Amino acid sequence: MNLKRFPRYPLTFGPTPIQPLKRLSAHLGGNVELYAKREDCNSGLAFGGNKTRKLEYLIPEALAQGADTLVSIGGIQSNQTRQVAAVAAHLGMKCVLVQENWVNYSDAVYDRVGNIELSRILGADVRLVPDGFDIGIRKSWEDALDSVRAAGGKPYAIPAGCSEHPLGGLGFVGFAEEVREQEAALGFKFDYIVVCSVTGSTQAGMIVGFAADGRAERVIGIDASAKPDATRAQITRIAENTAELVGLGRPISADDVVLDTRYGGPEYGLPSEGTLEAIRLCARTEGMLTDPVYEGKSMHGMIDKVRRGEFPPGSRVLYAHLGGAPALSAYSFIFRDG
Ligand SMILES: Cc1ncc(COP(=O)(O)O)c(C=O)c1O
Repeated sequence: MNLKRFPRYPLTFGPTPIQPLKRLSAHLGGNVELYAKREDCNSGLAFGGNKTRKLEYLIPEALAQGADTLVSIGGIQSNQTRQVAAVAAHLGMKCVLVQENWVNYSDAVYDRVGNIELSRILGADVRLVPDGFDIGIRKSWEDALDSVRAAGGKPYAIPAGCSEHPLGGLGFVGFAEEVREQEAALGFKFDYIVVCSVTGSTQAGMIVGFAADGRAERVIGIDASAKPDATRAQITRIAENTAELVGLGRPISADDVVLDTRYGGPEYGLPSEGTLEAIRLCARTEGMLTDPVYEGKSMHGMIDKVRRGEFPPGSRVLYAHLGGAPALSAYSFIFRDG
């Protein structure tokens, strides 16, 4: 497998820290050791997150093509579009963002605070459209690309979550390589890696990266799309393509893709009682913030699996914290009493 042959433009601080979640582990009975790898603090570019790691492999292509405008798409509170806006500003490029109505929720300031506020401050051309949640390619996005071309610009297209992009899985192949180096320094290996999945390229990259040392099925995806069939199909397809791209040397099988579908409800972007309990518990035992759309759901999944005894005693579990906390202020009504 060879990731090194793909050019990488540095946008992150470097390897992300792994920290033990000692108080959360103890609170849950102390039979399982929980750790977090902090992708949520991976960059100084507008708080970073998992897309910043993915974008390191897309930006060299954008620069090689002479693009002057990054065009991307997501929901109103998309973390992806905020990270694309920051990267564009950092590189002196323009940025057009299509923000769809993915979430059935309207806090009074939902379309003014959090990620969308930051994208506007970062100078992006933010375009709100009424379309609902879908992780595939959208017409509104094609229209945005056409509008840049019509104005004489050269767009570079970055699909939702970077996931439909052929290079979108590479960043998290690199994550697995980084974990292996950190494990060598720590003197132990993680038994499981817990990761939130929606558009799929984060988990897909990890599956390929950890397949290299026989641990693909130890990557436990927690669905947060509440449309798990589409998410599973997308993870599988991206993992297959990425495996071929990096020369994994074996095809991806259905057994490699583990997606737990119990924690994604009630809908994409809406937290369940379990999501909210997990957000509060993690915040109050560890001082670590997670959000109601993504990481609160994977945190719920990890906590519930520990409580049910689904990880054998003595397991070391690595929670990939992928970011997302900038969306919290858009849910201020839910947390009005803490
Ligand atoms: C904070 C956060 N966590 C998890 C995810 C899910 O990652 P992916 O879309 O690669 O499945 C996203 C983006 O969709 C995200 O912004």
